[in-house]
Amino acid sequence: MRTLDSLEPVVALAKRRGFVFPGSEIYGGLKGTWDYGPLGVLLANNLKREWWKLFVEQREDMYGLDASIIMPEPVWQASGHLGAGFSDPLVTDTVTGERFRADHLLKELGVETDGLTLEQISAAIKEHGAKSPQGNPLSDATLFNLLFPVTMGAQQASGNTAYLRGETAQGIFTNFKNVRDTMSPKMPFGIAQIGKAFRNEIAPREWLFRVREFGQMEIEYFVRESEWEQYFEEWREQIQGWHSHIGLATENIREYEVPVEDLAHYSKRTIDFEYNFPGKGFDELCGFAYRTDYDLRQHMEHSGVSLEYIEPDGSRFIPHVLEPSFGLERAFTAVLCEAYTEDEMNGEARTYLKLPAHLAPYRVAVSPLLKNKPQLVEKAREVFRLLKQEFGNVAYDDNGNIGKRYRRQDEIGTPYCVVIDFDTLGEENPAHADTVTVRHRDTGEQERVAITELTTYCK
Ligand code: GAP
Repeated sequence: MRTLDSLEPVVALAKRRGFVFPGSEIYGGLKGTWDYGPLGVLLANNLKREWWKLFVEQREDMYGLDASIIMPEPVWQASGHLGAGFSDPLVTDTVTGERFRADHLLKELGVETDGLTLEQISAAIKEHGAKSPQGNPLSDATLFNLLFPVTMGAQQASGNTAYLRGETAQGIFTNFKNVRDTMSPKMPFGIAQIGKAFRNEIAPREWLFRVREFGQMEIEYFVRESEWEQYFEEWREQIQGWHSHIGLATENIREYEVPVEDLAHYSKRTIDFEYNFPGKGFDELCGFAYRTDYDLRQHMEHSGVSLEYIEPDGSRFIPHVLEPSFGLERAFTAVLCEAYTEDEMNGEARTYLKLPAHLAPYRVAVSPLLKNKPQLVEKAREVFRLLKQEFGNVAYDDNGNIGKRYRRQDEIGTPYCVVIDFDTLGEENPAHADTVTVRHRDTGEQERVAITELTTYCK
């Protein structure tokens, strides 16, 4: 049962416990940027690792890639990202000069702008008397492109403009030929990439939901045109499977078929997978698009290089593409929201993260019952080293009393706390020698487990 009705408690926990900090905070922060702290990076890495395992390592038809973030202007001309399709309608407060997204201001007045031209948006602003949040009149709408330009090298001459990639996908399309020629893949096959993408969002907002620098986990799956519908259904199920693998409840996920008039410039069919974000409602978690042969065809035309697939009999064709595209920060937020739980244990209120064990920042926390007893500490360090070898992310926690350690580990989602006590040393009950107490996060139940069985037990 969800206990959250806004994002605030999650944001506060994430800051308090070292998951997410505002970007460049000591300089007042940089809008639209956030930094993963020590626990956030563990959770984010676990998400990326699980994604890679599921979609690349456990399949025969997938190849990995890690392409450059900076890509030259012709790539973005070819992909269409320098055009209107990757721009947002911008209006300016005529008094303060502040800029806002016209579609967001109109949405607050109940006016939808999907499919409207700039002129129609400007007319709607006048008709509905839209004002800036400060109550000032607004300019006509103009288009604002979301790509981040960067100047390459010391010469500020034309032709030197490059862009931070607005989606990781383009690095996959520009490497299609390289993968085809080096790996000789059989159709259908996919190329996957995890990496950063950048968008100069006019209005970054809602914590990690809309930011200017974010992680994407993308797959371009190349198929024959005649087979795209069959593979569309297969990938749709794969995406559903991923969401249950990361612990998102089915009732908090919804599929939204994007209407034709709202499709991205490259897409013929798109399903947005939406998550029920607390206090916000259903909004996009990840997207799944049929991009046709748009990108490969465009890059072929602009680069003059053939991006066809060559059949064993020598015949050639341009593959069509299915694209499951996942945003790391939105998955991270959804996982935290889903896990956030408030309950009572032993008559005390507690907050804990009910994270799936494979995503928790620490799989296990190891503690000596008392930190001033050298034999307990020595044994605890031995068990800690053993578990760390197996799981990597294991905490050694000897701060405060045992109850406080449990609360702290609960709050960061550690599934198991292992305590080394006098029984472990065989001092109180020789039958318990070399066993430890394992305490479970969700129920608070405790069991005695032999040290030799711990790694299997905590799997
Ligand atoms: N290659 C396709 C593509 O980039 P998209 O719907 O624009 O499609 C894919 O982005 C995913 O990236 C989204 O579903 C979302 O999870 C994430 N995303 C997009 N823009 C974002 C932003 N400004 N901040 C955080 N995540 C974002």
